[in-house]
Amino acid sequence: MEEVNFLIIGSGVAGLTLAVKLAEKFPMKKITVVTKGDEAESNTKYAQGGVAAVVDLKEDSFQKHIEDTLIAGDGLCDKSVVEMVIKDGPKRLRELIHWGANFDTDTYGELTLGREGGHSEFRVVHHKDTTGQEIERSLLERSNQLPNIKLLPHHFAIDLITEHHFSNEMPNVNFCYGAYVLDQISGRIFPIKADCTTLASGGIGQVYGHTTNPSVATGDGIAMAYRAMVRIKNMEFVQFHPTSLYDGKSGASFLISEAVRGFGAFLRNKKGERFMLNYDERGELASRDIVSRAIHAEMKNSGDDCVYLDCTHLNTVDFKNHFPNIYQTCSKMGINLANDWIPVVPASHYLCGGIVVDMNGKTSLKNLFACGECSYTGLHGANRLASNSLLEALVYADRIFQYLCNHPPSPVTKIIPEWNDEGTVILDNSEIIQQKTNELQQLMRSYVGVVRNNADLLKATRQLEKIYFETEALYQKYTLNTALSQLRNMVNIAHLIIQQSLARKENRGGYYNLDYAKE
Ligand code: FAD
Ligand code: SIN
Repeated sequence: MEEVNFLIIGSGVAGLTLAVKLAEKFPMKKITVVTKGDEAESNTKYAQGGVAAVVDLKEDSFQKHIEDTLIAGDGLCDKSVVEMVIKDGPKRLRELIHWGANFDTDTYGELTLGREGGHSEFRVVHHKDTTGQEIERSLLERSNQLPNIKLLPHHFAIDLITEHHFSNEMPNVNFCYGAYVLDQISGRIFPIKADCTTLASGGIGQVYGHTTNPSVATGDGIAMAYRAMVRIKNMEFVQFHPTSLYDGKSGASFLISEAVRGFGAFLRNKKGERFMLNYDERGELASRDIVSRAIHAEMKNSGDDCVYLDCTHLNTVDFKNHFPNIYQTCSKMGINLANDWIPVVPASHYLCGGIVVDMNGKTSLKNLFACGECSYTGLHGANRLASNSLLEALVYADRIFQYLCNHPPSPVTKIIPEWNDEGTVILDNSEIIQQKTNELQQLMRSYVGVVRNNADLLKATRQLEKIYFETEALYQKYTLNTALSQLRNMVNIAHLIIQQSLARKENRGGYYNLDYAKE
């Protein structure tokens, strides 16, 4: 068993920012960051567009950014949270720059700003088209300089440790005492006892299979919180990014940043029609839900597998300079941007809902905080404004840090039981888990996608129930491993998305159900 002061689950922008701040302030405290996979693997690493922040006070203002965020959120944002995050954003960005993150600047040394859908001004601070990689690099470098941060890659958090691990009775107040963690190399499962635990475990894209998210995005933190009866909200608001590169396969898909449309690219159908103006006067820069639905409609009407992003009229040298990663990836696929259009389709990209937290990042379970994409703060409401999520993670990591400085957690005195896997056997053929995972992803793509309806959601409920019982049987029988644990978590996430979709009796923001389309 390990005993630490602060346990952080996840090494993306949320987890690492919190770890760095705590380690700098409390050099004598132990901070452990567990992360499945390599230390840099995360949604953060793949972020392209950048961080939305008001840095150009001549053209832009907090008020404009606040209004854009509220419009995207379609009436479900918490206005006080929106104001707090947007006003705090520039300070948090400066902090990141101070830790060593480099963002693009002009010849006068001023930050250059991009524009994305739903933004009324240029305000997206970026590092070429690899902003997330640069943020991850600088945060990891800073963490490695701080000796009281112990970063454990290839360590998978399985479940939160709560009162029910000590007694079968329902407690009056439930506490979190850390987490059970699987060492993915040795297969050993052990408890990490912590005075304070933060879930910074990122998104859920893999629940759909076809996604811009990497393979680690299986919603583990939200599923763990759900099993510990923590409040979870707005799971129906899954944001689909309109332009993921279409390569004919399902699975993780390369993103063609919205900043490319901000740079002037057009969306065309196979016939060459620039169709977005038929759907919204903002054309290609309408909000993501509108662009994704328009693409969905074009594909449905034509029977085509994809639509296209046309960059042929743009200056190729400038394009290459702004988007070297996108340019190179397309070139490797034989797409010459001066002559060819990029085939694109919508793909699951971001979860607007998640674990409910207050303004200090506190969840409904004592000693448990949540930060970043796994949390629901009230910033995004029914739809996230592009590039507001890195911003949210930076701001909330600071909110949690400030809270912990003023309210230091008490040491945990309980004796934590070891993980009990008595009676289970090792599963030596993982094919069954892959098969169930495929079934689940297919179900989510077919019935719980960009455009939903109640009959499909009910069909999904019935099919998921079958997968749930099959997965629980595997969980009871076999010694836990990463794939089985992830499947179990994704089943929980799918359940939350489907049930919270059924509970929403209207179309709002990113949620679109044909049964309410004519109201
Ligand atoms: P992540 O960065 O996803 O980190 C989660 C961490 O938790 C990972 O280290 C993961 O391995 C770990 N983890 C998960 N489960 C477990 C477990 N069970 N045990 C141990 N560790 C676990 N947002 C913007 O604002 N601007 C952009 O330009 C932008 N572009 C994007 C482009 C792409 C392709 C994608 C996928 C997302 C983009 N986003 C963007 C969204 C943004 O990147 C994410 O919302 C944000 O990075 C989430 O940060 P996070 O720290 O909350 O989670
Ligand atoms: C993009 O670059 O298009 C992604 C931006 C985001 O998801 O915020």
